[in-house]
Amino acid sequence: MNRIGVIGGGTMGAGIAEIAARAGSEVIILERDTTAADTARRRIEKSLARAVEAEKLNRSAADEAVARIALTMSIDDLADQELVIEAAPEIESLKTEFFAKLDAIVAPETILATNTSAIPVIRLAGATTRPERVLGMHFFNPVPVLPLVEIVSTLKTDPTVVGKVTTYARDTLGKDTIQSKDQAGFIVNALLIPYLCAAIRMVETGFATTEDIDQGMISGCAHPMGPLRLIDTIGLDTTLAIIESLHQEFGQPHYAPPPLLRRMVEAGHLGRKTGQGFYDY
Ligand code: 3HC
Repeated sequence: MNRIGVIGGGTMGAGIAEIAARAGSEVIILERDTTAADTARRRIEKSLARAVEAEKLNRSAADEAVARIALTMSIDDLADQELVIEAAPEIESLKTEFFAKLDAIVAPETILATNTSAIPVIRLAGATTRPERVLGMHFFNPVPVLPLVEIVSTLKTDPTVVGKVTTYARDTLGKDTIQSKDQAGFIVNALLIPYLCAAIRMVETGFATTEDIDQGMISGCAHPMGPLRLIDTIGLDTTLAIIESLHQEFGQPHYAPPPLLRRMVEAGHLGRKTGQGFYDY
């Protein structure tokens, strides 16, 4: 697989496009307008510059990666891609719309993957006529730094498709892969997000301060960042969407979204991306 389409050039989509281009794939990113496309390109260039500064990449390899990435506002430009990875916001109706449109334009053998954080993949596969060629490819933020890709197979995904995508993630992108079944949250978010929400409940009840909770997990458990700063990095809206998916799937009280998380999202305090979350940026 050498021609990769990416739906959405946000934090995750831009990161996926960057690592695919660095690995030698030709990449085309779909964005909604020229402003969003410019932001996506700047995001990738900034990340590549950081990689060069950190001596993870040389300047010419970074320039070659940029040259392999095209941006478009027309989904029809993705018609020739061999693998399309959807990285749109966590809104199920938006994702199913993209899957239906992609299904209508790409070749029958094209594989459609989703980077959804928590939505069961079969629901997106159901919008296509090729559910056997649809699977989850779940990356972690920041994509160029964190080595994991969770590969999610639905009850209908063809095992040869799983093998092909796993090989691409591992051998071409250089990622570690794990295999998950198709349950909301998959493996990592089903463990991570309830922990993050438990930290929110500690703040909500006044049990401990934001700083002490974060310091506790950094100094006591060697986590690279505390849970509340991590929520700010993931985005409070995305965190809410994931815990809602888990609650819908399993129905247990510990998956109920903390009211404080909901209030902060309603107030537009989405974390790092809006400058305000559990911390100010
Ligand atoms: N390309 C390649 N390497 C890069 C890079 C880039 N664009 N940007 C940074 N790096 C490298 C740095 O050189 C450094 O490498 P080194 O350890 O060999 O020196 C390393 O990445 C760390 O970078 P920094 O030193 O700049 O930053 P920090 O040490 O402060 O770490 C962090 C930042 C990587 C974000 C770290 O705090 C971390 O791992 N936090 C946890 C993040 C996490 O848990 N993410 C998962 C979220 S859940 C998710 O994404 C799923 C979704 O569905 C919600």
